[in-house]
Amino acid sequence: VKDVGIGAIELYFPQNYVDQNDLEKYNNVSSGKYTIGLGQQQMGFCSDNEDVVSISLTVTRQLLQTYQIPTDSIGCLVVGTETMIDKSKSVKTSLMELFPGNTDIEGVDIKNACFGGAQALLHAIDWVTVNHPVDQRNAIVVVADIAIYEEGPARCTGGAGAIAFLVCPDAAIPIDRQFSACHMKNTWDFFKPITSTASEYPVVDGSLSLASYLEAVKTSYTNFVSKVARHATGIDGLNSFDAVFLHSPFTKMVQKGLAVMHYTDSCLRHKDQNCNGIDNKLDENDKAGMTKMIELSAQVWKEKTDPFLVFNRRIGNMYTPSLFAQLLAYLSSEKSSTVEEKNILFFAYGSGLASAIFPGRVRQTANLKKIRGVAVKAVKRLDYRQKYSAEEFTETLRKRESFLHSNEFPKTPSESALFPNTYFLSSMDKMYRRTYKLH
Ligand code: ACO
Repeated sequence: VKDVGIGAIELYFPQNYVDQNDLEKYNNVSSGKYTIGLGQQQMGFCSDNEDVVSISLTVTRQLLQTYQIPTDSIGCLVVGTETMIDKSKSVKTSLMELFPGNTDIEGVDIKNACFGGAQALLHAIDWVTVNHPVDQRNAIVVVADIAIYEEGPARCTGGAGAIAFLVCPDAAIPIDRQFSACHMKNTWDFFKPITSTASEYPVVDGSLSLASYLEAVKTSYTNFVSKVARHATGIDGLNSFDAVFLHSPFTKMVQKGLAVMHYTDSCLRHKDQNCNGIDNKLDENDKAGMTKMIELSAQVWKEKTDPFLVFNRRIGNMYTPSLFAQLLAYLSSEKSSTVEEKNILFFAYGSGLASAIFPGRVRQTANLKKIRGVAVKAVKRLDYRQKYSAEEFTETLRKRESFLHSNEFPKTPSESALFPNTYFLSSMDKMYRRTYKLH
């Protein structure tokens, strides 16, 4: 089988959002801290009637319907998520409801912070490579998370969303997964420990998480460039890619990550003229060093990364979908519309930590136009959301907390606005079994 990768995509995000300017005022921080300092405009959020199962059901159903995918053509379904709903039962098991009559579907959930989605995609590609020649079936990957933080400096870096991919041969977006290079390390930068009270919020060491992200970019990118050189691929760093996507906790972080890649290429590997007189030991954790790296990478940022951050700026950190939302934004843009093949690069990161860099391509297949249409519609849908005040957003998170901690059964979440065709949590019985309905 050739060109195994993403052959169809759908994106779901909640109807509710809060403006980051409003959050700055509400949290009494200096104006510009979230909007300029972190590079965020808005943040999507779910009420207590949505959870990771409901958003995964919504996006998977949407994928099957939009692309008319026969349910018996699927032999593998993998979910990448870090959103806690059950300590044993995977989200994947709930999605089996959408495949009536087909129980022969391999795969469960994969968890490691924001990285589980990338690993799920790589696994699905492996599954299709091995299995498609045997029975011509394909895989589906679902990446879905609700990112929420306790009150404090991290709360403004939340978000929520879900993406579903069809993984098949002869795909519009093949992933050249044999060139994937990693940086994996035991790190306590962000985690969700078992404690005496249930909580949806992570424990975060903010500054360690930022340093860990940058270390992961530097090391996995260095591993990637030496791997592609060893295999004589002709890939010459960022020059070889039309678009570069990086996991986005907030977009300023992406800009810093790209700056590290560019510095590695231009100053450390190529000793470009632009680097003359610049210290070749700039430290990404040093403010002056980072400012210089950002300055040097301004052109690459403008051309290859910044234009594709629309979902990230306006929804926030969706955790596992944050990286792939950039692929959708790229597909919605004119830059992906020409007939010649395009090269794209992904940097996946998840705290704890796991990271990988892998290349992909965009090919002119029979359904590329359809995929691009879905991407354009998803961008437009951002404008059909409903804005809530910072107070209402805070109250909604309180509702989620009290739903989790309530001892009244059956538990019934509040009624809250949803886009049409969205699954929602309708109730939870005294054995904590959740039931869902379609809006
Ligand atoms: N105007 C413009 N910029 C401002 C302003 C202002 N008025 N005020 C502050 N800033 C800048 C700061 O200089 C800083 O930018 P810099 O680091 O590029 O210099 C930025 O805004 C943030 O300000 P800090 O004071 O560093 O923010 P704080 O420490 O309060 O919190 C943090 C930021 C650590 C990201 C926090 O939101 C957090 O913990 N988030 C969750 C963890 C996270 O997302 N980690 C990233 C990788 S892991 C993952 O994906 C979950």
